[in-house]
Amino acid sequence: MQKRAQATWGGRFSEGPSALMQGFSESVSFDCRLAPYDLRVNRAHARMLCAVGLLEAAELKEIESGLTAIEEQVRAGSFIWDQALEDVHMNLEQALGQLTPAAAKLHTGRSRNDQVATDVRLFFKDAAAGLDRRLAGLMRALVRQAGEQREILIPGYTHLQRAQPVSVAHHLLAYVEMLSRDRLRLAQAADRANWCPLGCGAIAGTTLPIDREATARELGFVDAKGRPRITPNSMDAVADRDLFLDFAQACVVIGIHLSRMAEDLILWSSREFSFVDLPDAFCTGSSLMPQKKNPDALELIRGKSGRLAGNLQALVVMTKGLPLTYNRDLQEDKLPIFDSFDQAELCVRVLTGVVDGMHFRPEICAAAVADPALLATDLADWLVTRGVPFREAHHAVGALVRRGEELRVPLDKVPQVEAEAVHAGFQSGWTEVFDLGRALRARERPGMPGPRRIAFELRRWEKTLAGDGEQVGRKPGR
Ligand code: ARG
Repeated sequence: MQKRAQATWGGRFSEGPSALMQGFSESVSFDCRLAPYDLRVNRAHARMLCAVGLLEAAELKEIESGLTAIEEQVRAGSFIWDQALEDVHMNLEQALGQLTPAAAKLHTGRSRNDQVATDVRLFFKDAAAGLDRRLAGLMRALVRQAGEQREILIPGYTHLQRAQPVSVAHHLLAYVEMLSRDRLRLAQAADRANWCPLGCGAIAGTTLPIDREATARELGFVDAKGRPRITPNSMDAVADRDLFLDFAQACVVIGIHLSRMAEDLILWSSREFSFVDLPDAFCTGSSLMPQKKNPDALELIRGKSGRLAGNLQALVVMTKGLPLTYNRDLQEDKLPIFDSFDQAELCVRVLTGVVDGMHFRPEICAAAVADPALLATDLADWLVTRGVPFREAHHAVGALVRRGEELRVPLDKVPQVEAEAVHAGFQSGWTEVFDLGRALRARERPGMPGPRRIAFELRRWEKTLAGDGEQVGRKPGR
């Protein structure tokens, strides 16, 4: 039996696609997510067609009310998606055709190639703003914790070895800096998304008198002054997938940042560190070991960051060898992008919950930071203030550390005679260095963890974040 030719493009075909081909070629199972954007694009396109005389006013009216009806069905979840119609665009157009014959004119002067490129740009603008809001929420949680724990000092680590004392606030504000750069990256991606490809057709535009500025304006593709922004080259417009790479890349970096935070918190919550107690609501137990409380939420964040990197990789490999312009390979571009957005957003929300609910253990932090070796560098600085060249001071303190280890005494308890034998610069008074308050107060210059500097930074972030998060963070330079 002969299968019916495909309704939308079947004119030159004597039979329709095999069932296997249909299932293979469909994208509606995932691109139906673009329906709200596709409907907006349809409405803007129809209005423009009417304005330039390619559609009667009565036809536009029917198309508009049809689109509204379909929109309601989509929103209510009652719209029936048909795989045989391939993708979201053809499903919506066919549904409109059931409501009005004017639907047959809707595809005038456009192609699915410029249509999908326009839909995804609208999606990216929303996705960037949504993720930005979530990141602002996580930043607020971090700033709040930093403010509450500003008195708590902990060892800072390099090579995961104790290095120098810092405040918990300084450590948490480091994440805040990282996240603020993520928001900037998202804002830049959203700005690059803000160019309208609609009207570029399949590859070379159209012979019909369409008005690209009008649709761009109606869809919000405008600059700061409200002037329409339209893509200048029709071939680039339908072939370009830079935005997918930009957005996926922004998600990769977000994932890396979240994963590094997760790793710190996993370490801090381990019995060996015990700096922090994680909220039960974001931990799980063991099916066998009754005592366990595992940081699964954080481990999943660490794991999912790999998935975000994989999504970028899929897009890079997919696009790198494609001849201009549109190739069907590009239908595969949506899954990694949707996944990166969904997973990045989820990870940010979960980490916000963890940060909101975690409790520091001040006594354990205090015991860890009391290790006088953390101030060995300050001792070298002390020698420098007495005229010893830094290299020599570094060597002298190193020798003092070794002597302490030989004598089995902490660095600040090496007897005076022993210290002077190591280096003549260790005159009485060198032990004044071993005072944490003094050590931190000596670090008030920009970027450092001094208490006044931290108070300043906290105020700066509180101000920046107050009422922020309603739109993409900082505006990119125009
Ligand atoms: N579903 C297609 C995609 O996402 C839409 C564009 C189809 N264009 C085409 N020439 N077959 O890529």
